[in-house]
Amino acid sequence: MTESENVAGDERAAGASAGSENEAEGANATEPAKRPKIRIIAKPAVTPDAPADSMWELIGGRTTFEKLVREFYVGVATDEVLLPMYPEQPDLEGAIQRLTGFLEQYWGGPNTYSQERGHPRLRQRHMPFKVNPDARDRWLHHMRNALDTLELPPLYDAEMWAYLDRAAHAMVNTFDE
Ligand code: HEM
Repeated sequence: MTESENVAGDERAAGASAGSENEAEGANATEPAKRPKIRIIAKPAVTPDAPADSMWELIGGRTTFEKLVREFYVGVATDEVLLPMYPEQPDLEGAIQRLTGFLEQYWGGPNTYSQERGHPRLRQRHMPFKVNPDARDRWLHHMRNALDTLELPPLYDAEMWAYLDRAAHAMVNTFDE
C-alpha cells in the first residue's frame, strides 16, 4: 500500500465516523483505500432559493412557447371543426396569449397565467365546448405540427408531447359526434 492510498483511507474513515481514532479503524484502512474516491454532491431538484432548470428555460423560454402556440393556431385557423369553437374568432390573439401563458406556467416559467386567470381548471373551462375524439385528434394534429417546427432535442420533444397528448385525452367531455 502506498502512502497516498493510506491517506485516502484515513480521510474516508474520518468522514465516515468523526472522532473515532481507535486501533480497529486503522487496521481496516487498507480496504476503503482500494476503492476510488467518489464525491457525491447532493443537488436537490428544487430548493426554495434556487429553482432547478425548468423545461421552460431549457427549451428557450417565452420565445419558444409563443412560437409553439402561434404555429398551433395557424393550424387551428384552417380547421373547420375547431375554429368555430373559439368565441372571439377570427381574432385568436386572446386564445394565443392564454394558451401560451398556461403552458409557460405548467413547464416552470412565470405564473402570469394564474395571476390573470386564476386556477386553470381546464376541464371545467372546456365544458362549454364540444370536445369529442374528433376535436381532440384535430387539436393534437395541429399541436404535433407546431411542435415539429421547434425541432427540439428528441427527449424534450417526447416529454412535451407525452404531456400534450395526455392533456388532450383528458379534455374530452363528450362522445357525441
Ligand atoms: C382536446 C381538444 C381541445 C379543444 C377542442 C380545445 C378548445 C378550446 C377552446 C375553444 C378554448 C376557448 C378559447 C379561448 O381561450 O378564448 C380553449 C381554451 C383553452 N384551452 Fe383548450 N382545447 C383543447 C385542449 C386543450 C389542452 C390539451 C390544453 C392544455 C394543455 C388546453 C388549454 C387551454 C387553455 C389554457 C385555454 C384558456 C383557458 C382560459 O383561461 O380561459 N386546451 N380551448
